[in-house]
Amino acid sequence: MRAKIIGTGSCLPQKAVTNDDLSTLMETSDEWIKSRTGISARHLVSSETETTLSMAVNAGKSALADAGLLPEDIELIIVATVSSDFITPSTACMVQKELGAVHAAAFDMNAACSGFLFALNTADAYFQAGIYQNALIIGVETLSKIVDWKDRSTCVLFGDGAGAAVLRADSEGIIASLQGSNGAGGHVLMCKNRSSNNPFVATDTRLDYLYMDGQEVFKFAVKKETECIQELLAQTGLAPSDITWYLLHQANQRIINSIARKLKLPLDKFPSNVDHCGNTSAASIPILLDEVHRANTLSEGDLILLSGFGAGLTWGAALLRW
Ligand code: ACO
Repeated sequence: MRAKIIGTGSCLPQKAVTNDDLSTLMETSDEWIKSRTGISARHLVSSETETTLSMAVNAGKSALADAGLLPEDIELIIVATVSSDFITPSTACMVQKELGAVHAAAFDMNAACSGFLFALNTADAYFQAGIYQNALIIGVETLSKIVDWKDRSTCVLFGDGAGAAVLRADSEGIIASLQGSNGAGGHVLMCKNRSSNNPFVATDTRLDYLYMDGQEVFKFAVKKETECIQELLAQTGLAPSDITWYLLHQANQRIINSIARKLKLPLDKFPSNVDHCGNTSAASIPILLDEVHRANTLSEGDLILLSGFGAGLTWGAALLRW
């Protein structure tokens, strides 16, 4: 049995922040941001009640309602995030409590922007092993709390939000998947945790901000994501044009355009929401999936290829039948 997506949900913070709003806070412009990234606006948390947990719970509830399942039906909850509210308990355990998913085993996963794909592949592996039949997977980020708002080259890129999918073990669903990592490249995109906090170590205990070498990440993203897609196509004997929809990690419209060009495909096979969401890291693919599902863009039987890359470095892809 493989994982079939039977429901989706998402949650964006109420406040939409435009590029013009940002240009009142720092030296930037709508023209600079839009021409380099395709981003016009992003949603950012704007009150203490909007948190990583609250967005994850809302997205999860919405996905459960879409799937027609009750929280008690869920046997596994995986939350992909690098921006949880608590170091412990995990966001997944807190989601379990809030939803009342009393039968679910719950844990978090950190694969940065590839996190949703790692969660999907992990749930699929449990299904293939016959361990679980239902799962809720969530990608959620509040990156606005870890970006440096004085670093205009990174803070303008990111948004907050959550996306979720309910999975059922089925004879159809995921057809093929892959994932990978290269820790040796991790220094191009990182955020350091507190290094120590005991009285015997004289070190700086401040928390760090997200650091990114934008041009290196850009090159890595185009190369690796294209390779992932080509590898999945080779595994399944499909041509690029056989895929109905490519739902890629929404980091930057120029990255998506480059991949479409390399695959010699029209851009209308690549739905995108980066213009109004920015880069929501682990949440970007499930938010996009929920948007296209609710817009009735997807039809039963469509072949959908999900693919993403992230800090770590990490990458992943999954081909599935809708
Ligand atoms: N507004 C105005 N000017 C800016 C801004 C800004 N927000 N940010 C940087 N600049 C300036 C720089 O200071 C620099 O000025 P200088 O030439 O006087 O020194 C100039 O713009 C060019 O800066 P670059 O960094 O060279 O700009 P580049 O064209 O490379 O674009 C960008 C930067 C958009 C970040 C690009 O490298 C990129 O898209 N990289 C990929 C990033 C990405 O998608 N990351 C994913 C995040 S993590 C993940 O999803 C896994």
